[in-house]
Amino acid sequence: MAEIVAGFCTSHVPLLGRVIDGGRTQEPYWKPIFQGYEPTKKWLADLKPDVVIVIYNDHANGFSFKYTPTFAIGCADEFNPADEGHGPRHVPVVHGHSRLAWHMTESLVADQFDMTIMNEMDVDHGLTVPLSLACGQPEAWPFKVIPICVNVIQYPQPTAERCYLLGKAIRRAVESYDEDLKVVIAGTGGMSHQIHGARSGLINQKFDNWFIDKLTTSPAELTKISHAEYVREVGAEGMEIIMWLTMRGALDDNVDVLHRFYHVPAMNTAVGNVIMQNSRASA
Ligand code: DHB
Ligand code: FE
Repeated sequence: MAEIVAGFCTSHVPLLGRVIDGGRTQEPYWKPIFQGYEPTKKWLADLKPDVVIVIYNDHANGFSFKYTPTFAIGCADEFNPADEGHGPRHVPVVHGHSRLAWHMTESLVADQFDMTIMNEMDVDHGLTVPLSLACGQPEAWPFKVIPICVNVIQYPQPTAERCYLLGKAIRRAVESYDEDLKVVIAGTGGMSHQIHGARSGLINQKFDNWFIDKLTTSPAELTKISHAEYVREVGAEGMEIIMWLTMRGALDDNVDVLHRFYHVPAMNTAVGNVIMQNSRASA
């Protein structure tokens, strides 16, 4: 059986990708951020998962506004980095796990989550920056990736609760797969930021830290928060953190936090990174 052995959440700030690609991670402004990711890099390298399911959002790069699926799953064998206006990032092609992805699609649809099936899709910074933050600059990504793309950029967006329940359905899908696979799930986006309009530059450290506390101990509370409230607290784009609830839904109620990192600012954005696994105490 395949098993989700742990989860992590991380911001996917595109500028961090540019700093990594440009070899500037040791510059004084950026160093503390990348230091905060060192435990995650080590943890993931030691864990050696077969597959990482990455919950992320596209930012009108891989998809245009012609089509906006609410939930989409990448069923292809490979996904190219998207051209976001400056040419694609020079990072490895992302290799999918088509067989598991198709199994998950069948299971999710039977479980009332009508996923859009993506047989071809380019992946933008929402997916590639977390891979860079968690793996550095390898020749090839050291695991297969199943991209799950959530619409958080165009209204109406799925509710926080729906994202959390998707995580639970993903767990059922993975655990009903017939092959032994070590699977990690990643939730990306956030933390607080707004990059347009009068509130551009908004950062809310108090809410971000409260959110991480609740994500650990009582995530169901976070599912009751409305979109309007999320936007008020973390900004229109910071709303991306509802995808962290998908990761959390795929884990047990009781989790241990293996790493927790929060930093402000990365230019105009708060950055957060948390690793969780099912609590050994409840095993
Ligand atoms: C920015 C873009 C993002 O998609 C994000 O999650 C955080 C920051 C930006 O353009 O600064
Ligand atoms: Fe984003």
